[in-house]
Amino acid sequence: MKNRKILLTENEIPDKWYNIIADMPNKPLPPLHPGTKEPIGPDALAPLFPMDLIMQEVSPEKWIDIPDEVRDIYTLWRPTPMYRAYNLEKVLDTPAKIYYKYEGVSPAGSHKPNTAVAQAYYNKQEGVKKITTETGAGQWGCALAFACNHFGIDLDVYMVSISFDQKPYRKSMMNTWGANVISSPSNSTNAGRSILADSPDSTGSLGIAISEAVEAAASDPDIKYSLGSVLNHVLMHQTILGLEAVNQMEKAEDFPDIVIAPFGGGSNFAGLSFPFLRHNLESGKKVRAIAAEPTSCPKLTKGQFRYDFGDTIGMTPLLPMYTLGHNFVPAPIHAGGLRYHGAGVVVSQLLHDGLIEAQSVDQIEAFEAGVQFSRTEGIIPAPEANHGIAVAVREALIAKEEGTPKTILFNLCGHGNFDMSAYEAYFAGGLERHTMTDEQIAEAVSHLDTPEIPA
Ligand SMILES: Cc1ncc(COP(=O)(O)O)c(C=O)c1O
Repeated sequence: MKNRKILLTENEIPDKWYNIIADMPNKPLPPLHPGTKEPIGPDALAPLFPMDLIMQEVSPEKWIDIPDEVRDIYTLWRPTPMYRAYNLEKVLDTPAKIYYKYEGVSPAGSHKPNTAVAQAYYNKQEGVKKITTETGAGQWGCALAFACNHFGIDLDVYMVSISFDQKPYRKSMMNTWGANVISSPSNSTNAGRSILADSPDSTGSLGIAISEAVEAAASDPDIKYSLGSVLNHVLMHQTILGLEAVNQMEKAEDFPDIVIAPFGGGSNFAGLSFPFLRHNLESGKKVRAIAAEPTSCPKLTKGQFRYDFGDTIGMTPLLPMYTLGHNFVPAPIHAGGLRYHGAGVVVSQLLHDGLIEAQSVDQIEAFEAGVQFSRTEGIIPAPEANHGIAVAVREALIAKEEGTPKTILFNLCGHGNFDMSAYEAYFAGGLERHTMTDEQIAEAVSHLDTPEIPA
């Protein structure tokens, strides 16, 4: 019998996160104050985040210890399995070996609890009683609701209104873990009211929901804010999954030529790829890391590399990133977690330096790949994950054309059991491709008046 799963024991859960900044040839540029546009230091972030997380955000250390209490909660679902996708390989008739790391076994159903638990832990350490956050498809909101419930912290989640309507059960999951969920844009913040005044039918976006959650936290000293992607510490927490994956590939006596993950703000992509990129940076390996983004929100493949706000209203620090503009509202695709105008600073710098790659996928190609995966490997992936699978299929077919036995590893970052309305729409022929034209992209970025990054 073939060995399908590559498993680790609980003792093999990593005890440190990997901070790729220590190994980057060009370090990320500093964030700028949204008003003065001058570089800011750690203190400027203190109203929003606990100091331990801020120190991780700016840390130059290569390895950061994972607290025992966080590792203990991780054992509820970690280590996660890695699979060899024999059935998919067979239908694709490819010489490529395809592996996937499966993060859908977490209580919330995705990779997001890897950072949610860590963030809730450090907030608890600082005595924080309440947190606000945003969520797209609801995966991040569910993860933080699960984590805050564990540590007895209250949570308000601003959920992008299109997903609030499309994914009612994710809202119920958040409620089950005790969180309060608000459809965004809402009437409960100045940011939400100003958006609704301009566009009463706004379907919302992650940028708008971030504005609302940041405003709610910034206007009350007893509330902190938590972000599910983009920031350095969030990406670093996710490296636990890639560190496990390196160990699992070694157990399989293999090593990937290509690692692939879907891309919203960059956290699951960073989580999988950074521990492999470490081998490129340290010892000259040549793993290709490919981020898979939607053609409806192609910031990495077609956006500008410049300073931009993390939110729509312009309340967050300015970050050096690939962006389509903080005002950009992506088409209402079903992969809600990928509807974000910008990208993590570290991932952006790596892309700018040619150390990683990006490809865009429209949602029809993504669902075709997701359905093919469900019908071969069994698991029904989250719509976000389908983008990564589509790129894995593309690369496996290229390997077939070239006759090269490539090893491909992708991150199956979440299951889609609460996204079945998206699959229904796909089967009913109700999904559009939503590819942005060059004119639309030029229009989107033409509004940007944020600082440029010197060449
Ligand atoms: C299942 C899933 N995958 C991917 C993403 C994209 O986020 P990130 O790029 O931070 O991994 C999300 C975001 O909510 C998500 O829910």
